[in-house]
Amino acid sequence: MSQSRLMAGKTVVVTGANSGIGKETALQLAKMGATTVLACRDRGRGLAALDELKAASKNPEVHLLLLDLSSQASVRAFAREFESRYRRLDVLVNNAGVVLPKREMTEDKVVTMFAVNYLSQFLLTNLLLPRLVASAPSRVVNITSALHFKAHLDFDDLQSKKQYKASTSYACAKLAMVMFTYELARRLKSTGVTVNCVNPGAVATNLGRDGAGLLGAVMLAASPFFNPPEKGAETPVFVASAPELLGVTGKYFVDKRQQVSSHESYDELEAKKLWEASVSLTTSKTR
Ligand SMILES: NC(=O)c1ccc[n+]([C@@H]2O[C@H](COP(=O)([O-])OP(=O)(O)OC[C@H]3O[C@@H](n4cnc5c(N)ncnc54)[C@H](OP(=O)(O)O)[C@@H]3O)[C@@H](O)[C@H]2O)c1
Repeated sequence: MSQSRLMAGKTVVVTGANSGIGKETALQLAKMGATTVLACRDRGRGLAALDELKAASKNPEVHLLLLDLSSQASVRAFAREFESRYRRLDVLVNNAGVVLPKREMTEDKVVTMFAVNYLSQFLLTNLLLPRLVASAPSRVVNITSALHFKAHLDFDDLQSKKQYKASTSYACAKLAMVMFTYELARRLKSTGVTVNCVNPGAVATNLGRDGAGLLGAVMLAASPFFNPPEKGAETPVFVASAPELLGVTGKYFVDKRQQVSSHESYDELEAKKLWEASVSLTTSKTR
């Protein structure tokens, strides 16, 4: 099959698809023929991306569904709406991310940095699992960062109560994303659903542009030396679509190649602990 129609007949969801790496990933997958669902938190920014991506991809099957990862109610509403509108889910790209200078809490009483960068995407993936399993072979692609190498998960303080530092909290959420990738891959063995994570490298995007403390300032200052979003999207698109990765699961990708992630990320006991903590933080009486 030609590269241009590789994703024809497939349905993909990209979180945070109105900006940066997510927008470019969605564009490339739409160009390959996928029905592409942009999962965005802001209707105005989402609609602008929708118009742009439909025109640029020449694919009318680019759609917008609202998803605010700082609200578990929004995650549940998104999953319900997705299930009512789409019969299949071939690829879920958990891309959305944020860097916040101050410790903020979501309406679910979770520290926002942890919720948006990891926990709500854990919840979203689990809610969409029946569709992924029914559509197998299917893929989950989690976007992480090289900063996960600097992180250590403190299970006594996942909510950063003792001390909040943007770079530490961001790195921990990105480590959680890698551990979640490996644990979910183990749990989904033999379902035909593969789960991998991607470090997209340093990319000039909107991340940290809203005055996000020291980490934001460093990202802004260094951004002229960063890759453009088209380059940053190459590995997410590769992991989401490459035929040669059929069946490849539980891996960390950089520059379209499998690499070794941090020592801690391979700790299976910690991954199980993280899974249990994540279930407990996302278990809602209203579910
Ligand atoms: N840029 C880099 O150098 C770099 C390096 C390593 C990893 N990453 C990772 O790459 C991913 C994409 O980031 P990016 O660099 O492309 O940044 P970006 O341009 O800021 O895009 C981030 C996306 O996430 C969305 N988002 C933020 N908070 C959200 C929420 N509460 N609910 C739903 N969506 C939300 C943003 O929506 P709004 O536009 O509405 O804010 C935006 O669409 C992130 O996971 C990031 O951690 C980036």
